[in-house]
Amino acid sequence: MPSEPQPLISRKSAPLTGSVSLPGDKSISHRALILGASAVGRSRVTGLLEAEDVMATADALRQLGIPIECSDAGGKRAWLIDGRGAGGLIEAQNVLDLGNSGTGSRLLMGLLATQPIKSVITGDDSLRRRPMNRVMTPLEQFGAGFDSRDGGLLPVTVSGTAHPIPITYELPVASAQVKSAVLLAALNTPGKTTVIEPQPTRDHTEKMLRYFGAEIDVEDLSGGGRAITLTGQPELTGKEIPVPADISSAAFPLVAALLAPGSSVTLKNVGLNLLRTGLLDTLLDMGAAIKTENSQDMAGEPVGDLKVTAGGLKGVAVPSERVPKMIDEFPILAVAAACADGTTTMTGLAELRVKESDRLAVMAKGLTACGVDLEEGEDSLIIHGNGKPPQGLHGTAAIATEWDHRIAMAFLVLGLVTDQPVRIDDSAPIATSFPEFTDLMTGIGADIGAAP
Ligand code: S3P
Repeated sequence: MPSEPQPLISRKSAPLTGSVSLPGDKSISHRALILGASAVGRSRVTGLLEAEDVMATADALRQLGIPIECSDAGGKRAWLIDGRGAGGLIEAQNVLDLGNSGTGSRLLMGLLATQPIKSVITGDDSLRRRPMNRVMTPLEQFGAGFDSRDGGLLPVTVSGTAHPIPITYELPVASAQVKSAVLLAALNTPGKTTVIEPQPTRDHTEKMLRYFGAEIDVEDLSGGGRAITLTGQPELTGKEIPVPADISSAAFPLVAALLAPGSSVTLKNVGLNLLRTGLLDTLLDMGAAIKTENSQDMAGEPVGDLKVTAGGLKGVAVPSERVPKMIDEFPILAVAAACADGTTTMTGLAELRVKESDRLAVMAKGLTACGVDLEEGEDSLIIHGNGKPPQGLHGTAAIATEWDHRIAMAFLVLGLVTDQPVRIDDSAPIATSFPEFTDLMTGIGADIGAAP
């Protein structure tokens, strides 16, 4: 975390136009590094997200004995991982600092739980406030030991077990991170491990495990859940992994293009995993003009170009069963809802309170400061759009982003359509997931710059 905050300001912009390539998918990038490390031989990853969160995972794996390097040979950038097989990590000499990354820390806790080594995991101020019990509880059942601060916060010492026992675990919350932690622990565990999820969550881990050669079985359950069974100690072999663009990053220029009158923007090669596209479903329900072109498959993941044209949006009720499919997109949806005609109702949002910030509270506070009429509930947000963009901020007031990249980007998008500019107190956290954000946005015509 840098000591000096980097405020930014966004102002009402001309129509946004152009065709843009976005950075790689964060979830898939973490998994490509971790599964590459767990396979035997070399994996080659193209399009890896080169942002702070993913680089923290790469650094941690290097400390655990995995050679990882970036090659630029022939102008083709690729990340090379020389995996040592499931169970092949060596004890790190120092603390593993995962920075701001909930995904990196929780997935690594899973991987480390069934390796006979001791590891200490920590993170930045934000990550050290986030709950880790949700992964420690199932991982203890494999036989791993944990020592944490304040009964479940980082730093955590993981004592991996040399004799793991396969488990069946039902997730109490719909969380792809917890599911993935269990599956990664199961990799070095003999026998079959089953994880049951109440609602389907992003299945990148399952898809990539299968792509690497693991035996993984997915059963749809009555009531909408899923049971995922992995046969432990598979022989994974190094692979070629192309990473699609991140739909959760694409969401920001996408909503900007919908809101800024006269805009037309194409977002290329965006990952369209069906368990990640809830924002697109919701925006289409709101009347958005979004077309998918050039659909294709990339290493088992669906990908396509999104062509977005500006137009008025209307308020909707977002079905709560859709929440896991758009869990990271509520900050930017809240911005779209604030500019829509009519009321948007979002329910089942309890998980938003334990993200990089308490996103329900932080969005509600920032939007209210911009003149939006809304109601914040324990796990809900109701936004009364008035069909016109809210007013923005007067003078030098700034939105408190609470070291949360998605809050920062969401409010910068809002400022592109408000009469008064929107200033944010710190843009530094954007580098955790989307370091090119400001350049990419200004490249399509957005007026975003350093705040005076
Ligand atoms: C992620 C899962 C989600 C999401 C996060 C990335 C993943 O978290 O919010 O940004 O890559 O598995 P939860 O599992 O806590 O819902």
